[in-house]
Amino acid sequence: MAPENKKLLTWVDDMAALCQPDNIIWCDGSDAEWFSMWDLMVKSGTARKVNEKKRPNSYHVNSIPADVARVEDRTYICSKKEKDAGPTNNWADPTEMRKTMKSMFTNCMKGRTMYVIPFSMGPIGSDIAQIGVEISDSPYVVTNMHTMARVGNDVLDMLGHDGDFVPCLHSVGMPLIDGNKDVPWPCNPDNRYIVHYPETREIWSFGSGYGGNALLGKKCFALRIASTMGRDEGWMAEHMLILKLTNPEGIVEYIAGAFPSACGKTNLAMLTPTIPGWKVETIGDDIAWMKFGQDGQLYAINPEAGFFGVAPGTGMATNANAMLSMESNTIFTNVAETDDGDVWWEGMTKEPPTHLIDWQGNDWSPDLDTLSSHPNARFTARANQCPVIADEWEDPKGVPISAILFGGRRASVVPLVTEALNWNHGTFLGTIVASETTAAAFGNVGQLRRDPMAMLPFCGYNMADYWDHWLKMGKTEGAIMPRIYYVNWFRKNEAGEFMWPGYGENSRVLKWIFERCTGSVEAVETAIGNMPTDNGIDFNGLDMSDKNIANLMCVDTKGWLSELQSIEEYYDTFGEHLPAELRTQILALRERLESTKQAVA
Ligand code: OXD
Ligand code: MN
Repeated sequence: MAPENKKLLTWVDDMAALCQPDNIIWCDGSDAEWFSMWDLMVKSGTARKVNEKKRPNSYHVNSIPADVARVEDRTYICSKKEKDAGPTNNWADPTEMRKTMKSMFTNCMKGRTMYVIPFSMGPIGSDIAQIGVEISDSPYVVTNMHTMARVGNDVLDMLGHDGDFVPCLHSVGMPLIDGNKDVPWPCNPDNRYIVHYPETREIWSFGSGYGGNALLGKKCFALRIASTMGRDEGWMAEHMLILKLTNPEGIVEYIAGAFPSACGKTNLAMLTPTIPGWKVETIGDDIAWMKFGQDGQLYAINPEAGFFGVAPGTGMATNANAMLSMESNTIFTNVAETDDGDVWWEGMTKEPPTHLIDWQGNDWSPDLDTLSSHPNARFTARANQCPVIADEWEDPKGVPISAILFGGRRASVVPLVTEALNWNHGTFLGTIVASETTAAAFGNVGQLRRDPMAMLPFCGYNMADYWDHWLKMGKTEGAIMPRIYYVNWFRKNEAGEFMWPGYGENSRVLKWIFERCTGSVEAVETAIGNMPTDNGIDFNGLDMSDKNIANLMCVDTKGWLSELQSIEEYYDTFGEHLPAELRTQILALRERLESTKQAVA
């Protein structure tokens, strides 16, 4: 189909003139295209076909050790004014950055093919969906985009002559010039730039072929650029799963949840409840776009079409639905190869195979002290292959959200579940989300970092202005805002052991939240919010000591008071952008904590 969109044709011409590819291919998202990309990648040594009998139509790719995760220190928000990027983003002057980008991209696709990938984030034609076009010189990106977004001619149809789209330019940054021979994983680790221009809504990404750095519909568009669109247009782009919860009577509530990277979001989105009669179905596992419906409720869509999940730790015992989603048509990156041509990673099975080829191509056996797969190894699987995908996951009008969860990995202070007193208090709870760092981003693992609304690496503008946007959404006339909950599956006891079993048992907490939403269960008001009554959460049948239960649910007044101090210090870093309401929340919380302290004393 010949594209007709003027902006698109001009942009592609301009980018081709800049990047000088040998060929240009317009992608149509077809099966034929998928197969031809894999043919290319198998021939070039980039990919291997997974044993067809084990996992039909699936492929295994390994990157190089220097290109295995998002690179936050190389991710830039280039707003005109530095203060609009705020203290949590890397800001760069847009004029300067454009010069740098121009020089990086000049001739960068010589010897390669330029793929033009029109995609929709969200069901095509939904009022909440948006269109983007990614230009990339990576066939690996083309195939991943097939799975993660809706790619093809329908998108061009939607665009028509003068429809708008977000231009997303990507190059691995390794032209085949000066006798350069191609390599299985082309990239340019010394010159990586993940650049966003929020005012003109453009993305330029150079030098990395991996995940969020290269699949530009995901973090770059659906979060960083979309968050600025949401601010300007009165909607929300959030780092949230969306799940459908049905009780034994068949009543349904939709719940969204923001958790920092690698905190079990995919597991929660596909959870198998341990409590009889309850059902969890998946709408999305990573991103939610929410807009007000006519009735004043927030309606959410999952803008993605697939899961780009962390493989290690995923197995039939921990997330059977994810495992079943990747039985065919799946891309595996940075995992190990089994002797029968399948894939394996730590946590897939209890007993590791006796021999593997690890993600770096070396022989591996369980007696070695190396990992067979990179901790941020990924599977790219189609959402419609998930056995518990909800029927309405592609409903263009979205699903009405009753509750929003916030959570992080917190060894202490934060109890299993707290309900916010109201929207503003809930927004405050979102701003104080913190987590111990993981392997999803490059850097030290295991330190506590504040990750407000789990958006720290993904907010496309000043974080404090983003908080203000949350507060404003709550003030919208006629708005019926979701209830907000702060959960923590990761609290530890004095012996350093996790007190909560997590996984399917999280359904016990979801049940309490559901019953709060339907008004069928009471709560106790505490200094930090509403908490379950003694029998509010059903702990029956769990192998948990009373002491651990009490610990999990306790309000740690001293811990919160010292936490408040660190929150205030954190807030100070936002200067005058900090919404006054958040200082009011701190004052009110301190007063509540001080008065319980006196009451206890
Ligand atoms: C992800 C992340 O890949 O949050 O989803 O890092
Ligand atoms: Mn994520």
